Amino acid sequence: MALYGWIIYNGFLKSDKFVDFAEMLQEAALERGHEAEIKTNVDVLNVLHHDGSNPIYDRLPDYVLFTDKDIYLANTLERLGVNVFNRSRAIEVSDDKIKTYEHLAAFRLPIPLTIVAPKTFGQPLHVRHPYIRQVLDQLSFPFIVKEAFGSFGEQVHLVHDEDELANCLEKIGSSPFVFQEFIEESRGVDLRLQVVGEEVVASMKRISETDFRANVTAGGRMEPYEPNEWEKRLAVQATKAIGAHFAGVDLLFGKDGERYICEVNSNAHIRNLYDCTNIDASYDIIKLVERELKS
Ligand SMILES: Nc1ncnc2c1ncn2[C@@H]1O[C@H](COP(=O)(O)OP(=O)(O)O)[C@@H](O)[C@H]1O
Ligand SMILES: [Mg+2]
Repeated sequence: MALYGWIIYNGFLKSDKFVDFAEMLQEAALERGHEAEIKTNVDVLNVLHHDGSNPIYDRLPDYVLFTDKDIYLANTLERLGVNVFNRSRAIEVSDDKIKTYEHLAAFRLPIPLTIVAPKTFGQPLHVRHPYIRQVLDQLSFPFIVKEAFGSFGEQVHLVHDEDELANCLEKIGSSPFVFQEFIEESRGVDLRLQVVGEEVVASMKRISETDFRANVTAGGRMEPYEPNEWEKRLAVQATKAIGAHFAGVDLLFGKDGERYICEVNSNAHIRNLYDCTNIDASYDIIKLVERELKS
């Protein structure tokens, strides 16, 4: 019997990027002979039934490719015994940059010096708060202020002095964030390595002439990149550290060939990488699902 899969994306995000990612995965699944349906997190009702039964779906899939961040729904599907890729736990860790850095640090993987802002119970952290002195003892300007939740570079800020820091803290309000060392050598450039299982299947360099962030959405251009063994190893280890089966790993360039892990994205869109390298990682992802279901 053909494998039956659902590809779930978020029904509230209107950008075509999200549908496109789901369609790439569906196409690869269909080509591999699966029965594959695209659904949104609205199509699949998340009912917490007290006896663990499934009162809703006539037929559960063999697997779900969960391109969304609706962790509650991913958890329910896992409790019903469905194989969810990535695992809900990996998506949760990836979505929260603080949790990601915690996992990377626990695995002793290289990350920029990172200070997690304290929990403030709804109060914004004021730049005059004595706490900020301790941060300024550890980090010199310019440094990065990065919100725990964000994408496309939009919640990543570079602050050059106390005034900019004050503005930034005010804008962030009480959302969780980190203070982070700015890796100057990597200004406007980074690497994106797509890991599937134990392998890096495609990589690119992203370069921005106009912004410290290299995100393509923030104006970066892309070129294919051949990673060295160390870069590949870091990317695979980072993917393992967050418990993901596949991920897009961002690496930063440090001094003397050093590399830092910047981000591990469990839901990395693979369209840009395909446009840049002509490698369609969705096939690698589908083959990985097949291997995992067999074992
Ligand atoms: N500590 C840092 N030093 C230098 N550049 C950074 C640092 N953190 C982030 N950047 C730049 O900002 C971009 C976006 O940061 P990232 O953490 O990947 O957030 P997002 O999820 O929004 O992509 C990175 O691709 C990189 O170019
Ligand atoms: Mg990123």
